[in-house]
Amino acid sequence: MLDVSRKASRFTESVIREMTRLCRQHDAVNLAQGFPDFAAPAEIKDAACRAIMADVNQYAITWGAPGLRQAIAAKQLRCYGMSVDPEREIAVTCGATEAMIASILAIVDPGDEIVVFEPFYENYGPDAILAGAVPRFVPLRPPDWTFDPDELAAAFSDKTRGIILNTPNNPTGKVFTREELESIATLCRKWDVVAFSDEIYEHILYDGAEHVPIATLPGMHDRTVTINALSKTYSVTGWRVGWTIASPSLTAGIRKVHDFLTVGAAAPLQEAGAVALGFPESYYRTLAADYTVRRDLLLSGLRGVGLQCEAPRGAYYILADASAVGCRDDVAFARRLVESAGVGAVPGSSFFSRPESGRTLLRFAFPKTEATLKEAVKRLQRGLAH
Ligand SMILES: Cc1ncc(COP(=O)(O)O)c(C=O)c1O
Repeated sequence: MLDVSRKASRFTESVIREMTRLCRQHDAVNLAQGFPDFAAPAEIKDAACRAIMADVNQYAITWGAPGLRQAIAAKQLRCYGMSVDPEREIAVTCGATEAMIASILAIVDPGDEIVVFEPFYENYGPDAILAGAVPRFVPLRPPDWTFDPDELAAAFSDKTRGIILNTPNNPTGKVFTREELESIATLCRKWDVVAFSDEIYEHILYDGAEHVPIATLPGMHDRTVTINALSKTYSVTGWRVGWTIASPSLTAGIRKVHDFLTVGAAAPLQEAGAVALGFPESYYRTLAADYTVRRDLLLSGLRGVGLQCEAPRGAYYILADASAVGCRDDVAFARRLVESAGVGAVPGSSFFSRPESGRTLLRFAFPKTEATLKEAVKRLQRGLAH
């Protein structure tokens, strides 16, 4: 039998996507994969339909339709006072997923090191492997998921090419503070490295948490790749439209890699994205308020069945410790939860470089209707009662 490449054999299939398939098989409530089960805003759907009917159906410019790039730049200025040149500093990609891997492939050479906070969104591991990069993991520790500045400093060296940052964070719900970002930025400047900053949950914030793009800190504009997408903010994870914002020289490299990876993101959906990015401030306030209700519902439900969890400050996940209900092996426990309780969660080990760090943890996603969340809690109450 022919073997796959060494690269491809060094990582497994996505556990998150596998859990989704398992949920379908067992008709379980899927709180594993982070996608909404409620409708996307009518305005974005209408805009997509209009674009298709107006025959925006051929390739867009490979690095993004001009209208979408202008809308991204305008929103970045409006929200963060960040000035971005839509002609030279933006590349539109197929979701944040492609944005991250295209950026790493464009900027990191085989053998270079990249610093990764853990627990981490599971894609970052394979991203590093596919780029031939060597990840250096730095732990975030509960309950605040803060890092030890000395540990972080020790992870940097003259081999370091970049650091992957995700704020608001999946899976911990941490929102990095300005002070924490400043200490990361200091190291980026000292070692002349790039910050790959995944900000896909920028508008999903709770309890007054503030999102600070690291690119807005002194000296960081030219050494940050800001990664974002329509996926989470506008509840269209299946549209696959994302983007990078970076200096003209980094963007030139990212655009080349992107062109040969995918050519471009769906043209009519880019037109709709341009409309969505112009939504008024009230849209984002309502989004965060609605997510607060969902978060509180699931949080009290999980606590009620004996799971130990902190309230996330951002994003839409709860990382729960299930040791009190007998979880010793997260993978087996998550599988049992789908099969016998009918609720899908992601085994905690998928977010760690060493699986043992996540053996008692489960991640629950709550971009779901209240009815779905209540049904999940009911099933957990029944399933974990004995
Ligand atoms: C932190 C983070 N980045 C990126 C993605 C994927 O984004 P996209 O669907 O736009 O590729 C996700 C999806 O769950 C995520 O949690």
